[in-house]
Amino acid sequence: MPFLAGALAALGAGWVGFPHAIYKSRPQPVDFSHKVHAEKAGTKCEDCHAFREDGTFAGIPSLSTCAACHAAPMGTTAAEKNFIDAYVTPNREPDWASYAQQPENVFFSHITHVKLGQLKCEQCHGDQGASDKLRPYQVDRISGYSRDIWGRTLFQSKAAGAVPGMKMDDCVDCHRKQGLSHSCLDCHK
Ligand code: HEC
Ligand code: HEC
Ligand code: HEC
Ligand code: HEC
Ligand code: HEC
Repeated sequence: MPFLAGALAALGAGWVGFPHAIYKSRPQPVDFSHKVHAEKAGTKCEDCHAFREDGTFAGIPSLSTCAACHAAPMGTTAAEKNFIDAYVTPNREPDWASYAQQPENVFFSHITHVKLGQLKCEQCHGDQGASDKLRPYQVDRISGYSRDIWGRTLFQSKAAGAVPGMKMDDCVDCHRKQGLSHSCLDCHK
């Protein structure tokens, strides 16, 4: 009995404590809401996440995109005022973290997936584009990888609204379903 209780207590402590020990968490720099921008500013995804003329993906928008609207406050929220005071006025780029960031040795191209493959953003990113709040960015202290790559437990990755994984297995799984097969060097530099 004491052994069982001890084992359960250790398991419980590990279950709760381990993610804290292994992941370092930091908030995103700005209290940005995708939902507010879709509803109040009427922006489309490509207003901020555009493809350039040469087909490369611009990714996270730079401050100039935001400043085009926020040179002066458009509303009265504290979130907007903080953003203007900390970034727009001093002309400082926010230090955004990309949840999907892959290791240096992985090659990934948005244009082939979105234009040629006709995939929706949500298939890989979940509903982040519709979120009202940015969740904290979590990074594995040892590997330096984002938690979204392979830090989700089975339980978390199956939960409703979960962000799909970005592991090698996840890439290969979808490719296999689409009847594609790639050599190591198609994905690795
Ligand atoms: C007004 C500008 C703006 C618009 C419009 C916008 N986004 Fe974003 N988006 C951002 C900013 C800023 C970030 C960086 C914060 C972050 O990493 O979550 C971001 C991050 C993201 C990310 C997270 C990528 C990652 O891994 O960190 C996804 C996915 C995304 N946007 C999808 C969308 C989709 C889908 C739409 C359209 C429904 C959209 N966005 C419209 C500004 C915008
Ligand atoms: C097309 C114009 C437009 C662009 C581009 C734009 N915004 Fe906004 N933003 C708005 C409007 C409109 C609101 C809502 C203002 C209100 O009524 O409170 C808003 C609200 C906000 C708020 C307050 C959020 C809240 O919860 O109400 C923040 C912070 C913000 N924007 C940051 C950004 C950042 C960062 C970017 C660039 C990635 C950006 N905005 C790009 C129009 C824009
Ligand atoms: C097939 C899966 C897939 C699809 C579909 C996809 N993405 Fe991504 N996205 C990724 C991966 C993987 C990364 C990380 C890329 C890297 O690290 O080089 C990423 C990174 C991003 C980033 C962060 C880029 C940066 O500057 O760091 C944004 C923003 C983003 N995606 C938005 C979108 C939007 C908007 C769409 C829909 C138009 C979309 N993605 C469709 C897989 C996908
Ligand atoms: C949801 C399905 C899906 C996921 C997830 C996915 N892919 Fe793909 N991928 C595709 C499809 C479809 C194509 C073929 C596009 C075309 O040429 O029509 C493709 C093509 C590719 C190609 C060859 C074309 C090119 O860009 O050079 C590479 C490399 C690739 N994917 C890498 C990745 C990596 C790395 C990941 C994971 C981070 C990933 N893919 C995740 C569906 C997916
Ligand atoms: C469809 C794209 C794709 C293909 C094909 C692919 N990989 Fe990967 N691989 C990835 C992605 C994405 C990661 C990073 C995420 C992860 O660690 O799961 C990765 C990670 C790895 C890692 C771990 C590297 C690290 O820094 O942690 C090794 C080792 C690896 N791949 C070897 C291979 C070998 C060997 C092959 C050929 C048999 C191969 N990969 C084929 C996408 C791919």
